[in-house]
Amino acid sequence: MLDLARKYAWYYLNAKSKQNVESPFVLDLITEVLEDKNVYDDYAKVEKVRLGLLNNRLVTEVEDFGAGGVAQSIQEKRVSEIAAKSVKPARWGKLLYRICRYFEVRNMLEFGTSLGVTTAYQALGALQKSESIHFVSMEGSKNLVNLAQINLDEVGAGNKVNLVQGDFDHTLEKVLKSFDQLDYVFVDGNHRKEPTLRYFMHLLPKMHAGSVIVFDDIYWSREMSDAWEEIKAHPSVTLSIDLFYIGMVFFREQEPEHLVLKF
Ligand SMILES: C[S@@+](CC[C@H](N)C(=O)[O-])C[C@H]1O[C@@H](n2cnc3c(N)ncnc32)[C@H](O)[C@@H]1O
Repeated sequence: MLDLARKYAWYYLNAKSKQNVESPFVLDLITEVLEDKNVYDDYAKVEKVRLGLLNNRLVTEVEDFGAGGVAQSIQEKRVSEIAAKSVKPARWGKLLYRICRYFEVRNMLEFGTSLGVTTAYQALGALQKSESIHFVSMEGSKNLVNLAQINLDEVGAGNKVNLVQGDFDHTLEKVLKSFDQLDYVFVDGNHRKEPTLRYFMHLLPKMHAGSVIVFDDIYWSREMSDAWEEIKAHPSVTLSIDLFYIGMVFFREQEPEHLVLKF
C-alpha cells in the first residue's frame, strides 16, 4: 500500500500536461478523449446497471482466480461486493468508452469481464461508430458470465458481445483464431508478470498500426510494474501512455515515445 502511494506520488509529480506534449497524435488524444467532458447518454445506462449491482445483496458462487489466474477455490460473494471491489470505477469506464469511440474500434478483446459493467462501456463506445463490432470478452467464472450477460442485455449490448467462459490459458488461443486482427484489447485479469507478458506476446501477431492495448493496474504490484516496463520496452511498441491506473500501448509508425500523462 505504501509502495503504491509512493508510486502515485512519483506519477503525480512527473505526469505531463498538454502544454508539455508535442506529438499531434497525443495532443488530439488528450483533447478529444482525456479531456472530453461530454455527458454521453450511454453513461447513464451503464451507471444505472452499476447502481443496481451495488445494491444487489444476492450471494453467488465465484471461482476465485485471484491474481494467480488459477481457479483455486470457489468463494461465496455478494454481487454488491464484487461491484464495489472488482469493477472499474465510472471515471475509468467512461474513459474506455471514449477510447473505443474515438478510435472507432471494431475488433475488440477483453480479459476479465467480471459483471460486464466495463464491458458495457467499451461495447457502447464502439457501437457509437459502427453497428458491426466483433467483441469477445473472456471470464473464468460461470456465474459472473451469466450476470454479465444480463447486464449487457440491460444496456442493449447483449447481442454485440460474445462472452467466453473459461480460464484465459484455455480460451485465448481459440478466441484469437476468430480475429484476423485486433483494434483494441483491454487486459484486466490475472495481474501477474508472467501471464501478462505471455498474453501480450500472444496478442502481438494480431496488432496493426492502429491497434491499442490497454493494461489495467500497471502499478498494482511489483510484478505488474515489471511487466509494464517490459511491455513498454518491446520493439513493436512505439508509443506508451501511462495514466497510472491504466497504461496504453500503440504500434504506430513513429519514433518511440513513452509518456506519463496527467489524467
Ligand atoms: C478485476 S476483474 C475485471 C473487472 C472488469 N474489467 C470490470 O471493470 O468490470 C478480473 C476478472 O478476471 C477474472 N480472471 C482472473 N484471472 C483469470 C483467468 N486466468 N482466466 C479467466 N478469468 C480470469 C476474474 O474472475 C475476475 O472476474
